[in-house]
Amino acid sequence: MDVSTTIAGVSLRNPTVLAAGILGTSADLLCRVAKCGAGAVTSKSCSLEARDGHPNPTMLDWGEGLINAIGLSNPGVEEEVKELKKAVGKSGVPVFASVFGKSPEEFAEVAARVAEAKPALVELNVSCPNVSSDSRLGGKIFAFDAKLVAKITDAVKNRVSTPISVKLSPNTPDLKEIAQAAEDAGADAITACNSFGPGMVIDVETGKPILSNRVGGVSGPAVKPLAVKCVYDVCSVVEVPVIGTGGVTNGRDAVEMIMAGATAVGVGSAVYYRGISVFARIDAEIKVFMDSHGYESLADFRAIAQQ
Ligand SMILES: Cc1cc2nc3c(=O)[nH]c(=O)nc-3n(C[C@H](O)[C@H](O)[C@H](O)COP(=O)(O)O)c2cc1C
Repeated sequence: MDVSTTIAGVSLRNPTVLAAGILGTSADLLCRVAKCGAGAVTSKSCSLEARDGHPNPTMLDWGEGLINAIGLSNPGVEEEVKELKKAVGKSGVPVFASVFGKSPEEFAEVAARVAEAKPALVELNVSCPNVSSDSRLGGKIFAFDAKLVAKITDAVKNRVSTPISVKLSPNTPDLKEIAQAAEDAGADAITACNSFGPGMVIDVETGKPILSNRVGGVSGPAVKPLAVKCVYDVCSVVEVPVIGTGGVTNGRDAVEMIMAGATAVGVGSAVYYRGISVFARIDAEIKVFMDSHGYESLADFRAIAQQ
């Protein structure tokens, strides 16, 4: 039985991809996740300059999923390139480098710098705030604007030869149009999607929102049906491969994403729920499913929900 897959020419031994921002802060952690069975690993999004992010609390398990407002803390691209070089050399699986910037030019600059580390793919986190406010509520998100997404994609494609995936936001009614714009501008893959919301969790004892940022992105099991629909929509309009991300916790969830049309499957919050062994477990669970349904490769059931 073959669970290997290929994203933009990059071969993965299985379809699981560590999602950006989850354990991807150092080469050691990326290598550990690779050792634990991930098909590929994505680093935490990095920017040109270092960012502190928001003060704690920045993340909460609210029962049916996570809510987070880390604030895109990262050491800046110079430090990130050092970690990425180590991870690319040692991890044994494809390393995807996630980047973000304040403008198309800055995206291109950060992408060009991380490309020095020779990641297998550069993921553009266009789903982060692009204005001075760090709040998703107040900040505008690039991924809401098809023209901006195309501009960013085009700017990066003009600077780097590494394949790129554009990571979209699910929080727009224009998702199909935006995915199409990214593909038309040269995206080699689409990552669908970033976290949902923003949402809010209030501590009823204090009457105050728990996160220091008050609002944050919602992820994990609660968002899976929403994420599957996003992946289904994106796959109905683009031909490039899609990394289906959102709420995948077990092998059946991964199968659902692939049936919606995904070529690989991002796994983020599930690392908190099932531990770092989640990648090997999802891999094994996909194989059990395939065995019991007579499937020999992922292609046998990819996008069957689209028919
Ligand atoms: C704690 C945390 C940090 C995250 N940081 C990033 C990030 O730096 N860049 C990014 O593109 N997405 C980030 N995400 C979004 C995830 O990569 C993923 O798209 C989202 O959580 C949905 O997948 P999941 O339900 O499997 O977690 C983060 C999510 C969480 C929970």
